[in-house]
Amino acid sequence: MSTKSSLLVLLTLLFLFASSLAADPDMLQDLCVADLNSPVKVNGFACKANVTEDDFFFKGLATPGATNNTLGSLVTGADVGKIPGLNTLGVSMARIDYAPGGLNPPHTHPRATEIIFILDGTLDVGFITTANKFVTKTITAGEVFVFPRGLVHFQKNNGHVPASLIAAFNSQLPGILVIAASLFTASPAVPDAVLAQAFQISTNEVEKIKAGLAPNK
Ligand code: GLV
Ligand code: MN
Repeated sequence: MSTKSSLLVLLTLLFLFASSLAADPDMLQDLCVADLNSPVKVNGFACKANVTEDDFFFKGLATPGATNNTLGSLVTGADVGKIPGLNTLGVSMARIDYAPGGLNPPHTHPRATEIIFILDGTLDVGFITTANKFVTKTITAGEVFVFPRGLVHFQKNNGHVPASLIAAFNSQLPGILVIAASLFTASPAVPDAVLAQAFQISTNEVEKIKAGLAPNK
């Protein structure tokens, strides 16, 4: 084999190896329905013994979630916590509903790329790359958009009617870090001085933001 073809083979193997690390680990058996109450801690959940069809079923995405909250949006997850049969399968879904003006605020999923399909309405969506480029688009019913794994993204309903979408993830448990809530409502609290310096604001302003985001507000 020439040096050039060996290099190509090596690069292909490296790429395959890297892409196999880019999502949940591959499964080693047909199924491993999560025993969500097991004290055994593994990467994922321990498998339970008696499996039924209901372990693979969830009807919670059929109806719109209530959006009468501060942000005017509601995420209904369909991950391994709701569908134990997803354990080890590397996929999950969610439904998101938006009131007119509603926002699913800037957040990231540390373990998954997200692909969305708009069911109703129109949304302004966007994500920010590590080069600080803002990639944004207005998308409407029947259209699809992708948020690459780990990048900060949001969706905003600037329309006058409700909107909704179905999201799919390449992880059984994508995880979510909502940027504002993570920084300003973490427990124990991130020190005011850290937030004031990071955002170049006063500690009084930090306190005001913290009060505004308090969970029982
Ligand atoms: C759902 O999990 C979302 O993208 O907010
Ligand atoms: Mn998301």
